[in-house]
Amino acid sequence: ISEIAAELKNALHQYPNFPSEGILFEDFLPIFRSPDLFRKLVRAFKLHLLEAFPDIKIDYIVGLESRGFLFGPSVALEMNCGFVPVRKAGKLPGNTVKATYMKEYGEDVFELQLEAIPSGSNVIVIDDIIATGGSASAAGELVTKVGANLLEYDFVLELDFLKGREKLSAPAFTLLSGQTEKLRN
Ligand code: PRP
Ligand code: MG
Repeated sequence: ISEIAAELKNALHQYPNFPSEGILFEDFLPIFRSPDLFRKLVRAFKLHLLEAFPDIKIDYIVGLESRGFLFGPSVALEMNCGFVPVRKAGKLPGNTVKATYMKEYGEDVFELQLEAIPSGSNVIVIDDIIATGGSASAAGELVTKVGANLLEYDFVLELDFLKGREKLSAPAFTLLSGQTEKLRN
């Protein structure tokens, strides 16, 4: 995994002062322009999950709108498990559970279809990046609300100085820094 990670890290493109002054934006979209890198990204998550959960059947990968949709379904297919989206409010039909979280400017709401995940299912939440951890922890809340078992969070990148993982109720694995850390809380 660490060799693949180095190659993927190389493909990231940094944009200073985006989306606002003083922010260094790490763009991971170049990975998807190369089928070779895209495949490596997906396989690296698979390798990690097989190693981390050798005796557990993962039932669903839950991906977060929007960037978690770019590769979450591919990881799910590779793992032979289902993919379930967490979407921004008002997009999903039927009965849903909702969780509010803080964004840079005010609140946002995430939703999950109630019928999408049977209670007791083993779930992985996947997204491109963890910053403050607001999005991921709201998604974790939803998974817990439907009675599923949240095994782990998987991210491509982490802004560790924001300490987002401290907000999470399950361990977090970050591919491009290769760390899994059990949480204290
Ligand atoms: C970004 C990113 C993560 C989230 C991380 O998504 O893709 O989902 O922010 O930030 P946090 O840890 O502080 O919550 P964003 O909501 O900007 O939208 P997008 O995925 O639709 O681009
Ligand atoms: Mg996002």
